[in-house]
Amino acid sequence: MKLSTKLVGRKERGLVAGVTVLALLTSIWAGGAMAADAAAVLPAERLIVDLRAWPTPNTDLSKLPNNEKNRLIKFGQAVFTHTSEYLGPEVRDPSKRYAGTNMSCSNCHRAGATLPYAAPLIGTSSVYPQFSPRFGKTVTLENRINLCFTHSLAGREVPDDSNEMKALVAYIEYLSRGVPRGAKIIGEKEMVVEEPKRAANLVRGEEVFKNQCAVCHGADGRGKRVGTVGDRKGYTFPPLWGPDATSESASMFRILSTFQYVYVNMPFGQATWDRPALSKDDAYDVAGFVISHPRQPREGEVAKDFSNPYDKPEDFPWGPYVDSFSETQHKYGPFDAIRAEDAAAREKAKKEKEAKGNPASPPASK
Ligand code: HEC
Ligand code: HEC
Repeated sequence: MKLSTKLVGRKERGLVAGVTVLALLTSIWAGGAMAADAAAVLPAERLIVDLRAWPTPNTDLSKLPNNEKNRLIKFGQAVFTHTSEYLGPEVRDPSKRYAGTNMSCSNCHRAGATLPYAAPLIGTSSVYPQFSPRFGKTVTLENRINLCFTHSLAGREVPDDSNEMKALVAYIEYLSRGVPRGAKIIGEKEMVVEEPKRAANLVRGEEVFKNQCAVCHGADGRGKRVGTVGDRKGYTFPPLWGPDATSESASMFRILSTFQYVYVNMPFGQATWDRPALSKDDAYDVAGFVISHPRQPREGEVAKDFSNPYDKPEDFPWGPYVDSFSETQHKYGPFDAIRAEDAAAREKAKKEKEAKGNPASPPASK
């Protein structure tokens, strides 16, 4: 009941939260056992959960009763916020070195994955399994977590039945409490912002980087470690490129994802989703500058991604493509001509498929 009171309180302060959702939540929170029933009677129309008005889950877990389930959630939070201490490349037991960098999940999923448009994971366990264009099939939450291990953390897959994976899932389920199954979530991932209609200007981007980013992320982009190399403690300011950064198959190696993330999240402490600090031009150019630097190559992962090339996002910097544009233009823009050609190619493929008498199944969009 405490949570629903908080939500109503938020609403009274003028923030929007869907009224249907509100009523439903009151019933969910009235008793855990009712959650399944509530989910079963959801109307066909998808409920909307707007994270911008949603009560932030309490990330101080110290008050949770000491039981097995809660211990798992707490361990999940620890792995999420101090990934390098448990699964990083410097841990003593080589069999536990699942991440290929000393970054933590929370270096991107900010504030323990509770901030809108900073890849929050509130409600994430309510929307998986789901179809993933990247894998070309339906994936589980564990599969999706592993995508961040193999791509964002340049590592390898953590087994589904390991304690660490179970704990990460338990933490994400904790964050997702109260979000109805299958809800449409506003505020997830990055904010969709229209980019400037030109290629990124890397010279301007370097200027922005020197003035706005280098103070924390370092002039060499390698970030600032908590302690020293080998201590497993990870980063105060994560690296943006170089040998201990994300891999070249990660979303943070794509200009539009990086632009949309940086625009509403950086510089740290200044930007928020409703009050960006940089202009769009500066955020776009600095994103281009950041991704112009190499990091850990992941040829194997790149080849597996988007096995249906019609599903490739326009800013995926690795071919082959269904359009005539170069890898360079896919990497730095401009994007409108690419989008138009891709849409035409998809339409053509769909028509050809229909003509062959196959049931129409248009390639899923991004
Ligand atoms: C380098 C940044 C980065 C790191 C590190 C990272 N992630 Fe992610 N993660 C992202 C981004 C960006 C997205 C959203 C991508 C998109 O647009 O689909 C994402 C998506 C996800 C999703 C799917 C969310 C959804 O809404 O479908 C899950 C689950 C997830 N990450 C879990 C993790 C976990 C667990 C870790 C640590 C083991 C981790 N991530 C590390 C950047 C990162
Ligand atoms: C005041 C320090 C500070 C400044 C200035 C700053 N950042 Fe960050 N940045 C952080 C911290 C800390 C994180 C980790 C996220 C968190 O803890 O909320 C981060 C995370 C990131 C990430 C995601 C993680 C990764 O390593 O890929 C990107 C991308 C990023 N910053 C880019 C930038 C860019 C570009 C600028 C300049 C426009 C910038 N930052 C300015 C502190 C800073």
